[in-house]
Amino acid sequence: MAYKTKDWRNSMRVTVDYNYMMSKSLGDKGITDTELRQIKDKAQEAFDYVAANRGRDDLYMGWTELPYNQEAIVNDIIATAKEVRKKFKYFVVLGIGGSALGPIMAFNALKHLHYNELPQKLRGGPKFYVEDNVDPVRMQALLDVIEPEKTCFNVISKSGATSETMTQFLIISDILQKKGVNLPDNMIFTTDASRGNLIKIDEKFGGKFKKYVLPDGVGGRFSELCPVGLLPAAVLGIDIKGMLAGAAYMDSLCSKPNIAKNPALACAALQYISMKQGKNIHVLMPYSDNLKLMADWYCQLWAESLGKAVDYAGNTVNAGTTPVKSLGVTDQHSQVQLYIEGPFDKVITFISVGKYATPMPIAHGCEDIPDVGFLGGHTMQELIQAENKATAYALMRAGRMNYTINLPEVNAFTLGQLMFLLEMQTAYTGAMLNINTFNQPGVENGKKATFALLGKKGYEEKKAEIDSAPALDDKYIV
Ligand code: PA5
Repeated sequence: MAYKTKDWRNSMRVTVDYNYMMSKSLGDKGITDTELRQIKDKAQEAFDYVAANRGRDDLYMGWTELPYNQEAIVNDIIATAKEVRKKFKYFVVLGIGGSALGPIMAFNALKHLHYNELPQKLRGGPKFYVEDNVDPVRMQALLDVIEPEKTCFNVISKSGATSETMTQFLIISDILQKKGVNLPDNMIFTTDASRGNLIKIDEKFGGKFKKYVLPDGVGGRFSELCPVGLLPAAVLGIDIKGMLAGAAYMDSLCSKPNIAKNPALACAALQYISMKQGKNIHVLMPYSDNLKLMADWYCQLWAESLGKAVDYAGNTVNAGTTPVKSLGVTDQHSQVQLYIEGPFDKVITFISVGKYATPMPIAHGCEDIPDVGFLGGHTMQELIQAENKATAYALMRAGRMNYTINLPEVNAFTLGQLMFLLEMQTAYTGAMLNINTFNQPGVENGKKATFALLGKKGYEEKKAEIDSAPALDDKYIV
């Protein structure tokens, strides 16, 4: 299906500018063309690995095909979303991690920044909340502002065994049932096709829940472009076909094994080289409040994918760099001092926007006070863009590696591109590190320890192990 015209798509192309990573700008603090040439074979291998394994469920690489294989699902989601928008006053996602960060990121990126506060007429759809924690105060706060019987709850969990999500589910189910609500009328499940506890719960209700499948080969953090993200987005009135078309477009831009022609491979190569040079912190700094939560989503993608103890050869590698979320210009007044003068241990990735949804003119005034008067007659868009450029330049002058991902504007198509670019970059970097990018043994261990501490059957051994850990010593508690 063609999405808008070719010229329009080209005008919305997301690009990467890595001049300020290179020695031409940074001198001996930068990457040389020779170093880029030396990484060519590794980049080629990473490209080949990803290309050869695209779509493989057993390797959790099903996400690469999501832009292409969901036509029927997308149509079904759009129809369901239409009903939900008509019937419900609130839409609440119950989930955590990969099941929550994507939906909330897309909401933040593509909807009004004060969406829930808008009058219904302007909002056009239900109020929207994502419960990605088990903080009791937060749950109470949600219950204080929604009317559960007028709410559609989208329970998102591949396993249906995640304590956080299932806790949210139990609390909400109890409330709904006490109000006489038939759960399938107010709940939609997004889960595994045939396994997992949500399937068992559905069976108890005679298969009456509306269900969407979280495909086998798609891990939580790579799931925003499957029903996990598409249903909430469609309920919000987001152009989900545009998001998928953007992802497909970026995929086409990443079809060559050449760093100079493949933006995701270029980013991966730069990250890999800088990692080997001791840059172990990776800051993502969007200059857009709409993309603020993109940094949250990305931190999970990068951290869970690359933070691995061993490589495929069985060597202990303790791989990964620490992702840090930052926001321009807000964090110029908080973190940038450290980035410019602190240790040389960071790579900063900016996300810049060419055209904001509104430029917001700055009024004239205070002409007699030059420090203030010079602002009048400009726009806030000019100011934020100037500050973005100035910060990148100042970092470069201080010998700090940084590069910029440019979005012509923030819309469904460019967001789809950005997500796919970051996913591909992560997959390529993992391949260069020769690690399993798509599992999360550390997270699973934490889940098991929680089961043990709460006395779940079958975790007695784990509980005994935790109990036998050295007792906490009072002398270290002040
Ligand atoms: O990226 C991941 O795989 C995790 O963050 C999961 O999404 C998260 O742990 C929730 O798991 P589940 O979907 O099984 O409830």
